[in-house]
Amino acid sequence: RLDVTEVFHGICFPGHLHTQDSLQLALKFPFQDTDILIVSYPKSGTTWMQEIVSLISNKGDPHLSMKVPNWTRSPWLEQYYFAAILEASPSTPRVITTHLPYHLLGPGLHSSKAKVIYVSRNPKDVAVSFYHFHKIANFLPEAGSFPQFLKSFLEGTLSYGSWFDHVKGWTNQPATMNNLLHITYEEMSLDLHGAIKRLSSFLQCPLVEDEVNNCVKHCTFNSMKHNNMVNYTQISPDIIDHNKGSFMRKGKIGDWKNMFSDEQNQYFNSVFKSEMQDCTLQFIWD
Ligand code: PPS
Repeated sequence: RLDVTEVFHGICFPGHLHTQDSLQLALKFPFQDTDILIVSYPKSGTTWMQEIVSLISNKGDPHLSMKVPNWTRSPWLEQYYFAAILEASPSTPRVITTHLPYHLLGPGLHSSKAKVIYVSRNPKDVAVSFYHFHKIANFLPEAGSFPQFLKSFLEGTLSYGSWFDHVKGWTNQPATMNNLLHITYEEMSLDLHGAIKRLSSFLQCPLVEDEVNNCVKHCTFNSMKHNNMVNYTQISPDIIDHNKGSFMRKGKIGDWKNMFSDEQNQYFNSVFKSEMQDCTLQFIWD
């Protein structure tokens, strides 16, 4: 079976990609000060950020983006093949991706000057995107009905744990972390050009206007949807079934409105209000 679960520190991870060892090793990973770490809860714009960082590092030249899969250019820290990929394709800076929550990974990062980019997305859209992804990803548990799925999302029992804990964890301790940039999917969506400039400045990789424009051109939803190195169509259909839907699904802000009933929206808002009262992060919902 593909959809086995690995439970680590009380959080479920897809067993197809994670082992106790790989998760344990991630917490002890010796970061280098030149590393760039992309952190997100699933479905928050991870793949988009991987592509943006890759393009910025290459000054807008899409050559590598078109030739090397994103999971090789910016591998996932906690997955079992991480060390092998890092060894096989050394690059400076190393770009590493993770979905791990702050309470697990934060302590290991404290002494490092690695640059951390935390990407978050309005959680109603995250829930909808995650739901559709469960339907095509055979390595995740059955999605069930949307109301059941939404309940699990709000209770924090889905793979990778609670969205609330993830976002609060990475948002509420900025004083203890050097070099942490927060950015939202909505910011990238509303002003991709501006987001790329902000990121290039944070990464100390200055770009001239033409280079920024090239980055934009190659990381629009449409470009990425048609790039086999990022759209996951190279993954076996046993693992991601593209007959049932696309990884690059809609790429929009506010798709939750097509899924949520009024009642589900009220239920979501009440949980959000009580969970997020101490969180400073603001979201654009539509
Ligand atoms: S994963 O599985 O955690 O790595 O997924 P993640 O990459 O975080 O999120 C997938 C969603 O991001 C959308 N996406 C984009 N939106 C706009 N522009 C670009 N370039 C882009 N690239 C990816 C993708 O379509 C998923 O969102 P939904 O709402 O399902 O379309």
